[in-house]
Amino acid sequence: MAKIAPSMLASDFSRLAEDISDVCNIGIDYLHIDVMDGNFVPNISFGSSVMKSLNGICTVPYDVHLMIENPDLLLEDFATENTEFITVHYEACKHLHRTIQHIHSLGKKAGVAINPATPVSALAYILDEVDLVLVMSVNPGFGGQKYIPSATYKIAELAKTKWFNGYKYLIEVDGGACPENAEEIREAGCDIIVAGTAVFKAEDRAEAINKIKG
Ligand code: DX5
Ligand code: ZN
Repeated sequence: MAKIAPSMLASDFSRLAEDISDVCNIGIDYLHIDVMDGNFVPNISFGSSVMKSLNGICTVPYDVHLMIENPDLLLEDFATENTEFITVHYEACKHLHRTIQHIHSLGKKAGVAINPATPVSALAYILDEVDLVLVMSVNPGFGGQKYIPSATYKIAELAKTKWFNGYKYLIEVDGGACPENAEEIREAGCDIIVAGTAVFKAEDRAEAINKIKG
């Protein structure tokens, strides 16, 4: 069984509070917050004020995914009481180790995300410092894309490396996850599955959530 973090990006922004309450009532583990700056990725989503507007509505912790250049400038903004993880991109950080330390200094769990073309080996010297590794299974920037199968190999590689070295990080996958591929993802060793379209656009959200969690 995996944990699920529905991505708010796929919710109906015109009825954001209702959509988020709905999935919280069904039973989710985290709310995934996709922050895009129009620079690191070719799209702009929303900032911390939109996330904070859900305080008191969202009953699970925030799982913040920063798809932004220079994330250090905005870390404080996202380190709210309801924030559990803050994840930055390997590709967006000039001094990744320092950024991870910065997130920890704010009292939050630190994650690092890798794009589809970035190998797991790029993280070799940071794996003992992070609480979460996020494997992007689509190119970041948009919801509703198709799952890139090589992500499953990366999850398995991370699971093996974790076991072999006694590391503590959780493994998360993000992009194109759905009831049809969730079993393969879980079996590879994934702890947290992000799903946007497959949850918020589902005819039966409870069924989709339960099938993805397994
Ligand atoms: C992509 C985002 C993902 C994505 C997930 O840049 O990080 O969280 O929107 O959405 P689906 O599940 O629709 O691929
Ligand atoms: Zn995301």
